[in-house]
Amino acid sequence: MADDDHTGALLARLSRTQKLALVRGATDPEGTATGYLPGVEEAGIPPFRLVDGPLGIRAEGQRATAFPASIATAATFDTDLAQRQGAAMGREATALGQDALLAPGVNIIRVPQCGRNFEYLSEDPVHAGAVGAGLVDGIQSADVVATVKHFVANNQETHRTTVSAEVDERTLRELYLPPFRAAVDAGVGSVMTAYNRVNGTHMSDHERLVGDVLKGEWGFDGYVVSDWYGLESPVGAANAGMDVEMPGVAAPGAAEAADSDTADGDEGFEWPNGIPDATHAGLFGDPLADAIDSGEVPAERLDDMVRRILGQMNRFGRLDGGRTAAEDGESDDQAGELDSQRHRDIAADVAARGTVLFDNDGVLPLADGADVAVIGPNVDEPKLGGGGSSETTPVHSVTPVEGIESRAEGAVTTAFGVSQIESVSLFDLLPFVGEDDEADGSAEDTTRREPSLDDAVDAAEAADVPVVFVRDATTEARDRDTLALPGRQDELVSAVAAANENTVVVVRSGGPVELPWHEDVAAVLEQWYPGQADGDAAAAVLYGDRDPSGRLPVTFAPETAYPTAGAERRYPGVDDEAHYDEGVFVGYRHFDDADVDPTYPFGHGHSYATFEYGPAETAGEWTVAVPVENVADRSGREVVQAYVRPPSVDGVDRPQRELAGFEAVQLAAGERQSVKLTLDDLAFSRYDPDSGWTVDTGTYTVEIGRSSRDIRTTLPVDR
Ligand code: BGC
Repeated sequence: MADDDHTGALLARLSRTQKLALVRGATDPEGTATGYLPGVEEAGIPPFRLVDGPLGIRAEGQRATAFPASIATAATFDTDLAQRQGAAMGREATALGQDALLAPGVNIIRVPQCGRNFEYLSEDPVHAGAVGAGLVDGIQSADVVATVKHFVANNQETHRTTVSAEVDERTLRELYLPPFRAAVDAGVGSVMTAYNRVNGTHMSDHERLVGDVLKGEWGFDGYVVSDWYGLESPVGAANAGMDVEMPGVAAPGAAEAADSDTADGDEGFEWPNGIPDATHAGLFGDPLADAIDSGEVPAERLDDMVRRILGQMNRFGRLDGGRTAAEDGESDDQAGELDSQRHRDIAADVAARGTVLFDNDGVLPLADGADVAVIGPNVDEPKLGGGGSSETTPVHSVTPVEGIESRAEGAVTTAFGVSQIESVSLFDLLPFVGEDDEADGSAEDTTRREPSLDDAVDAAEAADVPVVFVRDATTEARDRDTLALPGRQDELVSAVAAANENTVVVVRSGGPVELPWHEDVAAVLEQWYPGQADGDAAAAVLYGDRDPSGRLPVTFAPETAYPTAGAERRYPGVDDEAHYDEGVFVGYRHFDDADVDPTYPFGHGHSYATFEYGPAETAGEWTVAVPVENVADRSGREVVQAYVRPPSVDGVDRPQRELAGFEAVQLAAGERQSVKLTLDDLAFSRYDPDSGWTVDTGTYTVEIGRSSRDIRTTLPVDR
């Protein structure tokens, strides 16, 4: 039977009560899922489990591979690797009995302080779209539904449940919508709406964006799920095109926390900033049934919701029975795979490949026999991720000290230097989560040592190379107050740098941070949140076993240089409205336009090898080819980037350049390759509020190079 007939026949057999059970979440009897649909046993529709994402699988009480933060995956500029990571996450979801993964997150990095930047991919829509599509493709290749989130303009955590992104149509179309469009084009099975409002309307009620754009214009035929407790109203949401309410039931203890009788409107209680009202649930239960009875919601809408859910269940083999969870480590398409060696390897690959070498005066790679001082307040802990719904608990992890000790042939000493940086977590902010329930399971002991700056300086003086590990601490539901590193870490780096001119700094951050000492040290690496492979990946790059082939998916600059700085109206907003007045001039588009040199530009990252570029030539209407040669005596990985400069058009303010495509290539010493780049249509187009997508006639310049500020060859292209 054809898929549509199969789901159509099933739908025809369901009563209204049964249909309603498929559109509203319920409590998972096994307690592992983040969201649970009970299914309809009599009709042969099994339960359906949705699980977080996106840094690995966060099934309650279960361990799984802790992959690097999404921003690290993005920094690889390697869509095949993103695909492999997605497939691994899909297999792990299956092994843990889950059916849909709540990943990837593809919101554009607009605000450098955003607490969830680590879960996102890029400040550029073509880049975010390509990496996001790779992840979607991978997850779904393992027969697990991918859920692209959070649709749309969820670019800050401050007041995320109420703030309205006031954003013009051109900016939405050119910047914020394209990564979601790319996921839809990649066949994503599900889209999660954002908590926030857009131009005044809550996203779950946004008929134009959900109904007209996503489902209508883009032809999305999967299901749209609410963010948790983020469904605003039964009628508005159903008519806007929402298909599933999650989690559908109040969080245990939430009502009590809110002083039980919320119906009375207890004025003493306020949900903390960024935390949704966890009693706001059940709208797609009786209230939806009533709205259908009263004619406010057409009955066909309920059928459409169910058809979309059954459609995805059918597409991924959930309606033909027989899926079982695997034993640990077992590999089988049906049974999934958990914490296997190949998954550990993929996590390590992404962590190493996503590492960005900002600067290097020649101290790196380290000599095998160098005496190394491993310094930093958290060198005995892996940096798994940020706080919140993406927290993943691994079976196995490696700390920076362990990684370096197992690789080094010289002496290794350790010093903490300054007080430990504590992780922050959304779960600490939830009024109804007890301390025992905290998701990361790693209660930190902040009293376990007496750090001493003098010890760190002594260790630095005695070593050939001091390697200082610094980190920020970010979480879902909170933005950072500052881009400065927390605690006394800047002081620590400066003291170590003054003691030894070979100081190397390894930064672990969820997005841009300020590095005031960057010119005073010998080398700086950015490792994002490297996940369980932390120390191994750090050692592999530091000793040159792996080339640091990550490139920046986001501009690094002092906080005051970003377009959202110093303008409360833009960020965090005034009267619950954040005005996206900078328009499309976000990230490098802003820095180019304002003619400001960032600390490190978009696309930046050194290799241990050296690459030379020959002249680019056209290789088809949407393809350019450029010869790239590795002129070093070691192999290396280059990320070749193509940007497009549009012709000037009267009355239209366009970015100077926009990323059109990229390609990562591994080149052996002395190897030369012609690298082909596909140019994305988006880089040539602009969205005109009256006439829609427009490609201005004229000569465009394709710029090809190593970063947005390091162009090596250009080519005119007429359109
Ligand atoms: C987050 C989502 C997540 C969901 C379920 C929400 O707080 O915004 O990204 O998937 O919770 O945990």
